[in-house]
Amino acid sequence: MKIGIFDSGIGGLTVFKQLIKRLPNNDYVYLGDTARLPYGIKSKKTVIEYSLKNTKFLIDKGCKIIVVACNTASAYAESTLSKKFNVPIFNVIDSGVLAVKDSAIHNVGIIATPSTIESKSYSNRLKKIKNIKKIISKECPIFVPIVEEGIKSKGYIDQIIEENLNIFKKNKIDGLILGCTHYPILKVKIKKFLGPNVTLFDSSIELAKSIDTYLAKTKKVKSGKKEIYLTDGSKYFKTALKNMFNDMNFNLKIIDIR
Ligand code: DGL
Repeated sequence: MKIGIFDSGIGGLTVFKQLIKRLPNNDYVYLGDTARLPYGIKSKKTVIEYSLKNTKFLIDKGCKIIVVACNTASAYAESTLSKKFNVPIFNVIDSGVLAVKDSAIHNVGIIATPSTIESKSYSNRLKKIKNIKKIISKECPIFVPIVEEGIKSKGYIDQIIEENLNIFKKNKIDGLILGCTHYPILKVKIKKFLGPNVTLFDSSIELAKSIDTYLAKTKKVKSGKKEIYLTDGSKYFKTALKNMFNDMNFNLKIIDIR
């Protein structure tokens, strides 16, 4: 079963990585919509329009499962995609919530893009499944360009992290949901700032588990072909691939789906 994954850019690679770790022999097509990034500050209508085009592209490439590896697109477009396309659509928000479900945390922080926070997708779902004492949400759109431009090691990034996450220290949270697929790339810095008593949750591990379970009931493809498409050139993307996947070989092409 060829799996199609999309995000606005580099972020979805954090999900792609977990999928490859768990199901290395599967066939994958990754689409990074770098021409239209960032998604997280765009309207619902626009994110739905982009997500429909991305999904159609992946299905035309032969994908039989779609992974929306973007929280913003999961929040705004997942239900439209599920109605419109006749393939299983997996989203990162359900997986993120699942990751928190069985944990012992009660004071939860959520960081995500402005659109994901505005959709209340995490907070509404969390309240349904768990007895949470406190939920604090904070939008951190600036984390996305930091990751896309590969500048996370610059000295001033620590100050940006501090300014954005201070609210969680003040409110003594015990768990933080990384509600944007770009954010796990900043995990080490976030962990360093919040300290060892705050558990960080990202949806990629749960999502890979769900797909593994789903595929256990179906026949697996064994070629392990991995294609990557971007909708525009991206200076840092190749370096990000190298940093995250070492010597793995990918077929990378720039395409126009507008
Ligand atoms: N990585 C995406 C997310 O999980 C979107 C980031 C962006 O393009 O703003 O929300």
